[in-house]
Amino acid sequence: MKLSVIGCGYLGAVHAAAMASIGHEVVGIDVDQRKIDSLSRGEAPFFEPGLQEILTETIASGRLRFTTDPAAAKGSKVHFIGVGTPQQKDGHAADLTYVNTAVNSLIPHLAEGDIVAGKSTVPVGTAAGLAERIVPTGATLVWNPEFLREGYAVQDTIDPDRLVAGVPAGPEGERATETLREVYHPSVAKGTPFIVTDYATAELVKVSANAFLATKISFINAMAEIAEVTGADVTQLADAIGHDARIGRRFLGAGIGFGGGCLPKDIRAFSARAEELGRGESVAFLREIDEINLRRRDRAVQLVVDGLGGSVYERNVTVLGAAFKPHSDDIRDSPALDVAVRLHGLGAKVTVTDPAAIENARRVHPQLAYVEDRDEALRDADAVILVTEWDEYRRQLPPEHASTLTTGRVIVDGRNGLDPAAWRAAGWTYYGMGRP
Ligand code: UGA
Repeated sequence: MKLSVIGCGYLGAVHAAAMASIGHEVVGIDVDQRKIDSLSRGEAPFFEPGLQEILTETIASGRLRFTTDPAAAKGSKVHFIGVGTPQQKDGHAADLTYVNTAVNSLIPHLAEGDIVAGKSTVPVGTAAGLAERIVPTGATLVWNPEFLREGYAVQDTIDPDRLVAGVPAGPEGERATETLREVYHPSVAKGTPFIVTDYATAELVKVSANAFLATKISFINAMAEIAEVTGADVTQLADAIGHDARIGRRFLGAGIGFGGGCLPKDIRAFSARAEELGRGESVAFLREIDEINLRRRDRAVQLVVDGLGGSVYERNVTVLGAAFKPHSDDIRDSPALDVAVRLHGLGAKVTVTDPAAIENARRVHPQLAYVEDRDEALRDADAVILVTEWDEYRRQLPPEHASTLTTGRVIVDGRNGLDPAAWRAAGWTYYGMGRP
């Protein structure tokens, strides 16, 4: 099928390449010439495992191309909208500028029977408004939210755990559903749940999924706060409650909390939208979720200060990680970088290392020192803090080896990824998050 994808960021670029890899003929469209040039050369403009390979393969096959020309969407059967919906600069609501611009640029090129499939995360009610503008062209709008995780985006797109389609009532909606089932034929054939809803439900599925995940993380981080004043160990607690299948162990990783381009801004936009709908109290707890999350960054900074005897001023602190999570170079709202910046603000001589995110981090925080090589970064450190649980830091850094590089023996484990006993045995003072 001929498809267009408007917006070639983390979501759109992966979607375009993944759709081409399952056999569709895809054009990716974005206003950013640099991004388009890079993608056209087959170079992924960001770090995402597996993306490079499918880009190279599908561009070579002729099934995938990229352009800045919105007219290239003409002739496609389905047009995916995959642009960003960041937090507004002066509030917590979502900024829909890019979605509106994308739809406006697409409308002149739509034909009778085309499908416009919204994938961006939007406040509930957005699709109904967009449909009014799209219907006069003879095209049909569907809302088809995306649940991909950065770091696993290719796999999540090609083989998602569920597909959701919000469609209009009646035969038009049925036709659109059929078309989407064809688009996702390999998943549909293998029996992946395909849930057909109205627009509002589809929009809400997406934001409520992210709100739930954020709640789960802040729940365990709240337990970490209680553990800290009682001497309990939150990781054991998480293991124990996680054995209850109704609770589950995943997303109960206590530490410096969630960040990235999705969870933080999505829970804020959800609260703002609920307020507009006169139902602010229904999700008022999300404010607590946000605040618990942000407090954990303070805690991590405080542990470094405590570890260094009450002040980090002019002390060498090595920060292991900059990305908001491993397997990504994304630093949007990264708790890791926030911790590094705060330590720098307290007068520490901060050295940051990360296997993928240094370039992005340097652009936004040029005041920090960056060292690519992990061991070089560790040299002469008075204290070390692990903030992004890359395997290079979590599994492949024996404390005995770290001891040969650093001056001090203070390790703060901001992701509870290390073995406290091993570090202590090697002579280090170990601080975890919600662990004795
Ligand atoms: C999240 C959702 O997981 C995806 O399903 C969704 O599609 C995506 O947002 C989106 O809306 O586009 P992502 O932002 O890639 O995906 O990252 P997650 O894996 O959810 O991690 C978010 C943050 O939570 C990271 O900073 C991570 O370190 C943190 N986290 C995760 C914890 O602190 N503890 C955990 O146990 C798990």
